[in-house]
Amino acid sequence: MSQIHLLSPRLANQIAAGEVVERPASVVKELLENSLDAGATRLEVDVEQAGIKLIRIRDDGDGIEKDDLPLALSRHATSKIYELEDLEAVASLGFRGEALASISSVSRLTLTSRRICSEHAWQVQTEGRDMSAQLSPAAHPQGTTVEMRDLFFNTPARRKFLKTENTEFKHLEEVVKRLALSRFDVAFQLKHNGRVIHQLKPASVKAEQERRVAAVCGPAFVDQSLHVDMNAEASGLSLRGWIGLPTFSRSQADLQYFFVNGRMIRDKLVTHAVRQAYADVLFHGRHPAYVLYLELDPALVDVNVHPTKHEVRFREGRLVHDFIFRSIHRVIGEIRPDASNVPALQELTAVEATTEQKFDQQYMPLHQPREISGVNEQIAPYGQLHQNRSFSQPSSSGFSASPPVVSFESDEMAEVPPLGYAVAQLHGIYVLSQNKEGLVLVDMHAAHERIVYERLKLACEAEGVRSQPLLVPVSVALSVREADAAEEFDELFEKLGFELARMGEETIVIRQVPVTLAKANVEQLLRDVLSDMMMFGSSRRLEEHMNELLATMACHGAVRANRQLTLPEMNSLLRDMEATERSGQCNHGRPTWTQLSMGELDKLFMRGQ
Ligand SMILES: Nc1ncnc2c1ncn2[C@@H]1O[C@H](COP(=O)(O)OP(=O)(O)OP(=O)(O)O)[C@@H](O)[C@H]1O
Ligand SMILES: [Mg+2]
Repeated sequence: MSQIHLLSPRLANQIAAGEVVERPASVVKELLENSLDAGATRLEVDVEQAGIKLIRIRDDGDGIEKDDLPLALSRHATSKIYELEDLEAVASLGFRGEALASISSVSRLTLTSRRICSEHAWQVQTEGRDMSAQLSPAAHPQGTTVEMRDLFFNTPARRKFLKTENTEFKHLEEVVKRLALSRFDVAFQLKHNGRVIHQLKPASVKAEQERRVAAVCGPAFVDQSLHVDMNAEASGLSLRGWIGLPTFSRSQADLQYFFVNGRMIRDKLVTHAVRQAYADVLFHGRHPAYVLYLELDPALVDVNVHPTKHEVRFREGRLVHDFIFRSIHRVIGEIRPDASNVPALQELTAVEATTEQKFDQQYMPLHQPREISGVNEQIAPYGQLHQNRSFSQPSSSGFSASPPVVSFESDEMAEVPPLGYAVAQLHGIYVLSQNKEGLVLVDMHAAHERIVYERLKLACEAEGVRSQPLLVPVSVALSVREADAAEEFDELFEKLGFELARMGEETIVIRQVPVTLAKANVEQLLRDVLSDMMMFGSSRRLEEHMNELLATMACHGAVRANRQLTLPEMNSLLRDMEATERSGQCNHGRPTWTQLSMGELDKLFMRGQ
């Protein structure tokens, strides 16, 4: 007797549903994506009991033809692609023709729709083993409403995996947020148990878009983020959006939204590129926050990697990785107290004498005259200004018996540098400075540490990497693939200061290493670098390792707490900060300075209230 038989359509769909429909949130994702693919401009999401009891989604999109309605609910039925070539450059969010079939096999589903040209709407409902759909006329404006009730009513085992209503709703809300961030031009409404949770108007200009980002990610993110807008004309890549300041880092990777051609994805290559860009400025174990949009030729990205389409595969992975890294690295590098105001300073620092001098300078106590830095020239005029103004010179020990009186005449205000002029030092830790806005507080050790660190890095770059032969060459056993990669990237390793030689199918010998890494575990480092290179086409591990060493040196070289600085020394520090990349954070990601505006101070003292 034959034992093999065809599965019923419902059972086949229920099995397939396991991949797509995990929880109410996945249903909302699929339905909203369908609405967006249909060109909807307004989306209403109505859920009860976190979507387990009811999910109703109404759109004003193109609608579905009467005869297509039953098809829409069957498996492998789609209007979005015709042949394989279409899949290779697919621009719609859906294309598998599976979502509605899957959802309707594990719930009670009603689909009501009306095309613009139709006299009235039609409705299909499914229930029962064979999933045959019943058509009936209905009242509905142009567009589509999908009503899903009793999720997993017929698959109790799946139902058991659902979490509390609270958790399920969090997931569901997250899906709506992601899609709201992906399409600023579409209005979104989310209601839970009759209560409006989100109401988002279409946002066309930047200010409106930032308002939406604030509504979704919290206003603090928008306040403490930088705008990214990068284009690589040659490769046709562009990256736009917002990245959180390093000081706005999070304990979890929960504020990371990355869209590729409008599709939210989670991708190892992307995460890696972003992390690298933040490598130097993030507190250990913290996660950056970002909302970023990558646009590229759809033919260069494969979205058909996973049923939920959360993952993608880039055809030019290295190029994309490099572009994301560079773009973010550049924006972060520009963080400094209002960089636009200090071009002259930047130029001055750039023509600093030789590397040796720079190195010397790192460890030069702050109170010595700092001739090499070039910043000194800026202090001289300050000295004169100082006398002309109604400053009373404080004693060099920070707090003078009569605190200094500093006031700017209005025409002098225009010349005040972003971080202002120092007025005092507090407990040997903080520098107090007055600028246009009010009071600036600087953590002098943190700030100086960053300055020293950035200079050490520059000096290292200028000198190139110096290598040193190993007394006893290290032989490393690798897989054939790894050894091949080591050979392929030979030039790169050379640039990094390594000399490698292939000694057999599965052996590489390290003959020479960068001086700075002579004491490191070079074997482990080589393995890690190779694995990065094979996965992402590049590796910054060596650089990171060297940077770690430099950071330690910087930390020891930086001015310690409890050192009394003179006013010119403090001003010199402020000017250096203005001219230094990433000077807003110390090497561990802590902020180096903060501003208290006159308004904030007035509030503290209830002035003018
Ligand atoms: N809200 C809607 N408005 C208009 N047409 C819709 C809507 N929802 C579904 N459809 C139609 O029903 C078809 C089936 O939808 P379904 O979500 O099952 O598959 P898909 O979107 O084509 O692919 P995927 O399984 O990848 O989502 C779609 O191709 C589309 O033609
Ligand atoms: Mg779909």
